Amino acid sequence: MRILALETSCDETGAAIVERNDHEQFVKVLSNVTATSLAIHAKTGGIIPENAAREQVKFMIPTIKQCLREANLTIKNDIDAIAVTYGPGLIGSLLVGVETAKTLSFVFSKPIIPVHHLLAHLFANFIQTTNIRKRKGSKLDNLEGGLASHLIFPFVGLIVSGGHTDLLLFNSLTNYKWLGGTRDDAAGEALDKIGRLLNLPYPAGPEIEQRANEARKSSIKFKSPLVDIKTFDFSFSGLKTEVGRFVKGKNLTDRLTNEICRAVQDAIFDVLVKKTIRAAKMFGTKQILLGGGVSSNQTLRTEFEKSVISNKLQVRIFSPEKKFATDNAAMIGAYALLDYKPIDWSKITAEPDLYFD
Ligand code: KG4
Ligand code: ZN
Repeated sequence: MRILALETSCDETGAAIVERNDHEQFVKVLSNVTATSLAIHAKTGGIIPENAAREQVKFMIPTIKQCLREANLTIKNDIDAIAVTYGPGLIGSLLVGVETAKTLSFVFSKPIIPVHHLLAHLFANFIQTTNIRKRKGSKLDNLEGGLASHLIFPFVGLIVSGGHTDLLLFNSLTNYKWLGGTRDDAAGEALDKIGRLLNLPYPAGPEIEQRANEARKSSIKFKSPLVDIKTFDFSFSGLKTEVGRFVKGKNLTDRLTNEICRAVQDAIFDVLVKKTIRAAKMFGTKQILLGGGVSSNQTLRTEFEKSVISNKLQVRIFSPEKKFATDNAAMIGAYALLDYKPIDWSKITAEPDLYFD
């Protein structure tokens, strides 16, 4: 089974070709192309939805063409089905991908599978890895050949992206329960907004990670939001306000900025790790899957690993290879391959507010 997958939920325009043999559980990526309008958003300090969609209209067909060219395949002869993100996301952006996918499905008579963008972030863990890290004694290695055949249910999934922070419990790949999520800003959104207060380029997550690594240990400490509240709720907008108050009137030298970045990361990651580990303990899970742009942060991955060790847990942490953690079409294809449910093309609509059942 070979799938052409499209992803246009936010500002990226992605096309990927993924495949899976019947006897193999893992998802193999034949090509994965992402065009981004980041340069435009960096100028405006954030995404202006109409600008994103306009760029996606321009990028969509060339991205698909490049993706097919790189894999040396044609839709007519080599592709079995089309997968597309139908939500959640920006309506204009989603429509570009959905309408393109419907057209391809109709013209080439291929089945079409609508994919939930957030679940796909976790399914990025099932993609065969190309650079498997095997640090001695590390619990943080991605399994060669993908994760699907090694899954132990139930497992906990943490989605941390620019738009979402959600904790889920999976009893099977398709049977899951939403445990909690953010009441306001998502973790990535908080990093991006705080980045703006610190005059950092958009999106700020990667630069905050880099600066936090350069910071010396500092006395700055921000409160980790809702960390002591027993629910699985998160909230990050108060942290942004706290940082805003802290920087007011201060000379933001490189050194001070680095120290603030470190304190911000500590505050956000502390609550993410503690609540996720608490969920794993509560439900007796042996595996935690991370996904979404923020999960590409090495410090977050390491903090999870440390927490597993200090809590003496037999829990394995999985996170996608970095290039599959941020928005990409390969994860959309991975989802479609593992939960293959084609529907009639005329029944697919973009659902910007799609959430969990
Ligand atoms: O999953 P994603 O690509 O898009 C959404 O679905 O939202 O996530 C984008 C978010 C941005 O907020 C960005 O700042 C954050 O992921 N991000 C990071 C890192 N790389 C991207 N946050 C922390 N550390 C990183 N290395
Ligand atoms: Zn995403």
